Amino acid sequence: MIKMRWFRILFTLSSLAYSLGEELTIFPALKQYWVIKGSTLNLTCRHNGTPATQEHTLSFWKSNTQISSGSDVKVNIFAVPDTQDITRTIRTLVITKSDVQFSDGVPYKCILGQNMSNFKGEAQIEVRVLEFQSAEYNIAAENEKNLMPVGKKLILECNASGMNPSDTSFTVTTKWLKVSEGNKQFLENSTKYTIFTENRTLEILNPVREDAGEYRCVFVFNKEDKASYQEVYSQPFNVKAAPKIETHDKNKNLVQEDTLELRCTASGFPKPTITWKKDGQALNQTERIHPKEERLVIYNLGFDDKGEYQCIASHGEFNDTASATMLVRVKDKLAALWPFLGIVAEVIVLCIIIFIYEKKRSKQLESEEDAPDAQDNPGDNRAGVRRRN
Ligand SMILES: *[C@@H]1O[C@H](CO)[C@@H](O)[C@H](O)[C@H]1NC(C)=O
Ligand SMILES: *[C@@H]1O[C@H](CO)[C@@H](O)[C@H](O)[C@H]1NC(C)=O
Ligand SMILES: *[C@@H]1O[C@H](CO)[C@@H](O)[C@H](O)[C@H]1NC(C)=O
Ligand SMILES: *[C@@H]1O[C@H](CO)[C@@H](O)[C@H](O)[C@H]1NC(C)=O
Ligand SMILES: *[C@@H]1O[C@H](CO)[C@@H](O)[C@H](O)[C@H]1NC(C)=O
Ligand SMILES: *[C@@H]1O[C@H](CO)[C@@H](O)[C@H](O)[C@H]1NC(C)=O
Ligand SMILES: *[C@@H]1O[C@H](CO)[C@@H](O)[C@H](O)[C@H]1NC(C)=O
Repeated sequence: MIKMRWFRILFTLSSLAYSLGEELTIFPALKQYWVIKGSTLNLTCRHNGTPATQEHTLSFWKSNTQISSGSDVKVNIFAVPDTQDITRTIRTLVITKSDVQFSDGVPYKCILGQNMSNFKGEAQIEVRVLEFQSAEYNIAAENEKNLMPVGKKLILECNASGMNPSDTSFTVTTKWLKVSEGNKQFLENSTKYTIFTENRTLEILNPVREDAGEYRCVFVFNKEDKASYQEVYSQPFNVKAAPKIETHDKNKNLVQEDTLELRCTASGFPKPTITWKKDGQALNQTERIHPKEERLVIYNLGFDDKGEYQCIASHGEFNDTASATMLVRVKDKLAALWPFLGIVAEVIVLCIIIFIYEKKRSKQLESEEDAPDAQDNPGDNRAGVRRRN
């Protein structure tokens, strides 16, 4: 048991970096380091030793050429006193190479000293470059009828170049994962998924809208060897789905000065954005109108706000969009009052008519009663007036 452990420690140390003379350490602490083509390679070499002299300077070598700063390479060296032992200095050399190419996949050496034929220590890391072939798939193009028929499967192949199958210096296995809304889910064989390790293939059976999303394959290098264990994530396989309206509000009957609120939700991958239209015209944000993605709010409704509202989901990937229409009617605030006022007006008019009629009638009656007197001496009044004059 103890022997086993010692063996493992020795094995680990020897495989981290082979060193000669003073100890140097390269980070990442791997003897073999896989990097994706086009990404940035970052190597750090560290030495903890007695203070600086010229021969204690660190340098990185790619094959037999010293790496120096250039357009796509940055070389930085830092030296700080060791807080544990002030007679010693921790020296760190960092090289950063952007846009890694296959030609960068070679052994790198870090040496203590600036001359390959005269140095006090060295460490090595083997950089390997690989390139994934990622693909995009359309599950539901255009519309639902283009969904894959039942029994069909979607096949994702994790192809990569840069790995020589006859190279026995490493082993590699594959895992698959689905990323949805930031959550990583590792996939396993099931009724939905079949994972073939030999040809690094994932089969998705009877793909439906919910299967759309971002998939990645993960290369697991040297699973059995802690000193070289590394996981490399592929670029995403995007399984796309056209936008679809999932839920939306019903038609609405509102009253003047009310607040209108309409909602619409949509699915699709990438996640669609929702815009709003009224009678075919884009609705723009104003103080009163707030078209905010899934929710449209209009405050202080007026008559002009009645009409046909439409929410439109699109994600710019297919020309296809999805939409739903909602009718909004706006009634006058006094709408209920008008009939009442009408009745009141009617009653008033009736009363007036009755009143006038009654007055006329009573006048008529009166004059009918007065008539004999008036006829008796019609001249009297006139005579009296005249007399008064
Ligand atoms: C490079 O690696 C070093 C050490 O691991 C780290 O401190 C640094 O931030 C890395 N730089 C970049 C650009 O990744
Ligand atoms: C490298 O070291 C050797 C031996 O010490 C010396 O002869 C040679 O001039 C050095 N070269 C450089 C470039 O410093
Ligand atoms: C993956 O590689 C296989 C075999 O070389 C090839 O038939 C297939 O078309 C490749 N797939 C992709 C997506 O590049
Ligand atoms: C999943 O199932 C297939 C077919 O049954 C099999 O070949 C494959 O090895 C399984 N994969 C895993 C990771 O178990
Ligand atoms: C991968 O291998 C499995 C089992 O050998 C096979 O059924 C499947 O068709 C292969 N897939 C591809 C894309 O070659
Ligand atoms: C909203 O703005 C766009 C572009 O600025 C314009 O074409 C459209 O007519 C505006 N819609 C309304 C209802 O004013
Ligand atoms: C989208 O529309 C443009 C122009 O109308 C057309 O050229 C293109 O082929 C369409 N793309 C798809 C995926 O239908």
